[in-house]
Amino acid sequence: MKSISLRPFAISLALLWQGRGQIISPSANVTNVAIDLLDGSHILHFLDVVDAFGHVSTRNPDNASQFIMSFAIAPALATSQSLVTYEIDNATAIQLTFNTSVTGDAVPSGFLERFIHSQIYKAFPNVTGVVHAHTLNVISFAAAEIGLRAQMGSAGSVGTLTNGTPIFDFDSLPTSVLPEDAPHNLLIGNEALGDALADMFENGSEVVLMKGHGMAVRGTSVRDVVFRAFYTMQNADVQSTASLLGALALGGQPPAGLSPRVAMDAVAAFESDSLLSRAWALWTAQVDQVPLYVNDLRS
Ligand SMILES: *[C@@H]1O[C@H](CO)[C@@H](O)[C@H](O)[C@H]1NC(C)=O
Ligand SMILES: *[C@@H]1O[C@H](CO)[C@@H](O)[C@H](O)[C@H]1NC(C)=O
Ligand SMILES: *[C@@H]1O[C@H](CO)[C@@H](O)[C@H](O)[C@H]1NC(C)=O
Ligand SMILES: *[C@@H]1O[C@H](CO)[C@@H](O)[C@H](O)[C@H]1NC(C)=O
Ligand SMILES: *[C@@H]1O[C@H](CO)[C@@H](O)[C@H](O)[C@H]1NC(C)=O
Ligand SMILES: *[C@@H]1O[C@H](CO)[C@@H](O)[C@H](O)[C@H]1NC(C)=O
Repeated sequence: MKSISLRPFAISLALLWQGRGQIISPSANVTNVAIDLLDGSHILHFLDVVDAFGHVSTRNPDNASQFIMSFAIAPALATSQSLVTYEIDNATAIQLTFNTSVTGDAVPSGFLERFIHSQIYKAFPNVTGVVHAHTLNVISFAAAEIGLRAQMGSAGSVGTLTNGTPIFDFDSLPTSVLPEDAPHNLLIGNEALGDALADMFENGSEVVLMKGHGMAVRGTSVRDVVFRAFYTMQNADVQSTASLLGALALGGQPPAGLSPRVAMDAVAAFESDSLLSRAWALWTAQVDQVPLYVNDLRS
């Protein structure tokens, strides 16, 4: 009822905007991916992958040289008017994705660490979604300098590298990347630091742990990278419990985890459209029950 009565108003407003040449409605592809991006932000908070901090982004489906993410705001609070289109080239803001009259310096400040996203997109042309999060049980692994290894099918993308997921360590950066007089505050606040982080990714794992900080996850879509980030967190729980049980029962042996073949086949099965959609349907239904989360693009 509500949407029917508002429709004539919405149409005339859209025409007005077009007439003034200020607001161009984003394409259907951008709108669809933005819907997932807002849901993804809210879901990551709902599932405790992020808290006040952390972020998810996507490559612009209309232009592979740009990415879309919110400006600096807690992920739980993001709405369509928080979304910004950024250059991958230098992580500068181009415009608000849903209000193209707000451009450049007029765009509210972005996340300092948006270089995590820009440099991962730059390094990996096949990546279309990135998550950065300060997930507690993942930080424990980086603190202990133990990489994660896939322990279950839904976390196959964690991979089965011998030493586990790579661990990015601010303290071992060369001065060419982190000069002596630059702040050693763990934050990925420029291109050189973003490149150093992106360089840590290895074939066979979609996750890099960040010591004292969190993790970076790359994926093939917003849904995929949110799924990977959530199951990386779950995998950390399983791996730590299994390690403790192993210490008790097996004289301190770490869990072997999945074999490479099983992990690889599990990624294909668990990240299939049908299973991703099943998870997404649950998670969007859950965030819809919580008034804190507002996805004004999907109503
Ligand atoms: C929208 O995305 C679909 C699927 O990726 C693609 O086939 C189509 O060309 C895109 N449309 C535009 C206008 O870019
Ligand atoms: C794609 O993005 C780049 C970088 O922002 C820009 O220079 C280029 O004009 C864009 N291409 C199109 C077709 O909009
Ligand atoms: C950022 O990169 C874009 C695309 O290459 C370029 O047009 C723009 O001038 C750059 N902006 C700055 C501030 O370097
Ligand atoms: C777009 O931004 C302009 C400038 O801040 C503002 O006046 C206008 O109300 C905004 N439009 C919408 C739809 O939010
Ligand atoms: C990862 O795989 C790609 C494509 O198969 C290859 O070009 C690249 O050299 C590999 N990187 C490493 C570090 O093995
Ligand atoms: C992108 O390709 C590299 C190999 O070049 C591969 O290791 C990685 O898993 C791919 N990433 C995605 C998100 O598909």
